[in-house]
Amino acid sequence: MRKKIVAGNWKMNNTLSQSISLVENIIKLLKEKPIMQSELCVVIAPPFISLEKVGNMINGHKEVFLSAQNCHSEIKGAYTGEVSVPMLKEIGCNYVIIGHSERRAYFNENDETLAKKTNALLKEDLIPIFCCGELLIERQAGNQEKIVKSQLNNALFHLSKEQIKKVVIAYEPVWAIGTGVTATSAQAQEMHAFIRKVIAEKYGTDCAEEITILYGGSCNAKNAQELFANADVDGGLIGGASLIAEDFINIIHANK
Ligand code: 13P
Repeated sequence: MRKKIVAGNWKMNNTLSQSISLVENIIKLLKEKPIMQSELCVVIAPPFISLEKVGNMINGHKEVFLSAQNCHSEIKGAYTGEVSVPMLKEIGCNYVIIGHSERRAYFNENDETLAKKTNALLKEDLIPIFCCGELLIERQAGNQEKIVKSQLNNALFHLSKEQIKKVVIAYEPVWAIGTGVTATSAQAQEMHAFIRKVIAEKYGTDCAEEITILYGGSCNAKNAQELFANADVDGGLIGGASLIAEDFINIIHANK
């Protein structure tokens, strides 16, 4: 059975002290309402400066993992302000979100860079959470599948079958991020099935069936259960609702 994940992308929210109190609450609530399914895990992606502290706090909770929100593609060097994969690995990150639409829009992240970041992560045995998804005008023009296929093709399809199996894909339609407009359950399932089909065409059905595909975009405690009930939706990448411990826990438990 493939892995199910509920990941909280905190984005640029929470100072160190706020991060500590949010993780304390998440851990407390997880103790009260433990995860009963062995294939379900929780991923927390705080800002860089909170990673080490949050990592220490979740240490010992075997179902909770640490993620960064970005990394550089080079191992080290003269890249002022950047953070490398080995740095993230040493402080306990298991996952790194790459290709988020906010990074694509505001920091010129493109598929070519993402291919390099993917390679750097897999080389160090960290798991990329690769975000893809179309803009509203692209969906209105009926081009959503073409766009997502080209993002996968350009950033991931140079990988071997063994490598791509390690990648987690997050489908995040840009028009649903932070807008309160979520994709309908049918729209999410349709795109997730399409992503799995494209992977199957390139790598075979067995490989496609093993890959975890998350939905992201205004997913909350109210709509999570319906979204996660779809056959090809293996969980969520949660923004705003992951900043409220109770909501995040309810979303985790919606992933049955
Ligand atoms: P929201 O859940 O706030 O829409 O954000 C989704 C997201 O971008 C997660 O990476």
